[in-house]
Amino acid sequence: MKSDINLRHFYELDSTNSYLKSHMNEFPHKTIVVADQQTNGRGRGSNRWLSSNTNNLYMSILLKGPNLTAHHLSGLTEFLALIAADTIDHIDPLSIFKTQIKWPNDLMIDDKKICGILTESGNLENQVKRFYIGIGLNVNQEKFTDDIKNNVTSLKNITGINFDRYELLYKLAEKIVLYKDAVYLPDRILYLWKLHSGFIGRVMRFRQTSGTEIILGKAIDVSDDGALIIENVKGEKVSHYSGEISFIF
Ligand code: BTN
Repeated sequence: MKSDINLRHFYELDSTNSYLKSHMNEFPHKTIVVADQQTNGRGRGSNRWLSSNTNNLYMSILLKGPNLTAHHLSGLTEFLALIAADTIDHIDPLSIFKTQIKWPNDLMIDDKKICGILTESGNLENQVKRFYIGIGLNVNQEKFTDDIKNNVTSLKNITGINFDRYELLYKLAEKIVLYKDAVYLPDRILYLWKLHSGFIGRVMRFRQTSGTEIILGKAIDVSDDGALIIENVKGEKVSHYSGEISFIF
């Protein structure tokens, strides 16, 4: 691991993202906080991220940079999904199970979620800009609760092998820090991200974050500003900025 990464390990936190946010002034750029379990793990929107199982990876990275702006946030999320997918795909024997990205930032294997990413920002108006990148990766968990068991999986369930969580953490962290300047190349990131995605062209149900309407349609593309473009049954193409996909085909 690169020596300039500041790693903090905790047995238990409420949420690694929340912890980094409330201690941001104490920690330098490239601080990584990892917890064996979280009591209030947070997912996108108002979702929770169940984090009592100590066999998974719950980590957050603090990136500070004067040139980071709100404009970089969607590119950063895409970049992280790409880095995490590439890291997993380069670990034997996972290379034979291709990880696919599902909009906006879920990592899937065989249409089941193995990893979620929560990117948050702070103080973008001030001189020092900050991003808090939380990554939850299902590593060695074997059993999931009934409400999610058909939609999620873990690296262990896919391969039958136990993985070293810290080896995964180091590999991920090194790649993020090494390639973080790619966030200033949004076109390139979006291009690679689309190549790694597994949802464009598929028929899906889409539930908007605000509202209860379920949209039935086909994912057509992702726009430069990160919106999912869905063609609905009337043939209209509509952009959506937040919501949840579930596949039909
Ligand atoms: C999602 O897919 O909804 C995003 C899930 C992100 C979960 C991770 S676990 C580490 C970090 N701390 C949190 O509270 N959330 C993120």
